[in-house]
Amino acid sequence: MNNNDTIRKTLIVAVSLCLVCSALISFSAVELRDLQEANKTLDKQSKILSAAGLLEEDKDVSVIFNSIQPRIVNLKTGLFDPSINLEDYDESSFARNPETSIELNSENDLALLKRRENFQTIYLHYDEDKLNAIILPVRGYGLWGTMKGYLAIESDLKTIIGLEFFDDKETPGLGGEINNPRWKAIWKGKEIYSDSGEVVISVIKGSVDKTNDESIYQVDGLSGATITSNGVTNLLSFWLGDMGYGPLIQNLKLKESIDV
Ligand SMILES: Cc1cc2nc3c(=O)[nH]c(=O)nc-3n(C[C@H](O)[C@H](O)[C@H](O)COP(=O)(O)O)c2cc1C
Repeated sequence: MNNNDTIRKTLIVAVSLCLVCSALISFSAVELRDLQEANKTLDKQSKILSAAGLLEEDKDVSVIFNSIQPRIVNLKTGLFDPSINLEDYDESSFARNPETSIELNSENDLALLKRRENFQTIYLHYDEDKLNAIILPVRGYGLWGTMKGYLAIESDLKTIIGLEFFDDKETPGLGGEINNPRWKAIWKGKEIYSDSGEVVISVIKGSVDKTNDESIYQVDGLSGATITSNGVTNLLSFWLGDMGYGPLIQNLKLKESIDV
């Protein structure tokens, strides 16, 4: 028997290999954490810009993002709340903490969130001092999990600029078509509210009949993905209604200009 073929030596080699590998993994996880966070931030910024149609191919995302002004909103009052530091705001921990969120019930939990944070960060984009886009974080359950995204609306507070999801668990080719550029393009120019102020924007089953008066409030359904399509309708109904940004939108409508 070769001297190296002992159980003891085999174990030493296996354990040493495990130790070296785990040290390498831990080291790269720690070393890459900042880079991962930076990439996450960049991705979030690019989705916010994309929803508002502000992404430019040859321009740096972080440079364009400098023109975006984030604001913390108290969702109940619909007022900006500068007492919360933007850096301290974290959606998921606010939504989990009973002190900074409310429990939703079967009647008002249209987006199937269970709890809703009391504060949110929204994003304003000004073009030479003129407000031209308000970008609102939205989320809600699809078929397999929570779909998270941004809805950008014009300063008239009713016309959609774009809807962009940055996180979802829907099936590629079915519900995953929420990320298809052709489907995303349909949202531009659609309107949210009926004349009486109700949230009526919806993803319908099938294709929109453009000759129909209601077509301005309708988006083509995703074929084979009615559950995801309904999830998108429901999350928009939730976030644009009284439990979401409804109070904010009402307040903004009463203002001549939105303070920065
Ligand atoms: C493997 C698998 C994955 C599916 N993924 C989705 C999905 O992501 N979104 C969705 O709405 N429906 C999905 N469905 C289909 C739903 O179960 C359901 O049949 C569909 O939403 C009905 O839509 P339709 O009325 O347009 O056919 C999936 C079905 C299967 C078998």
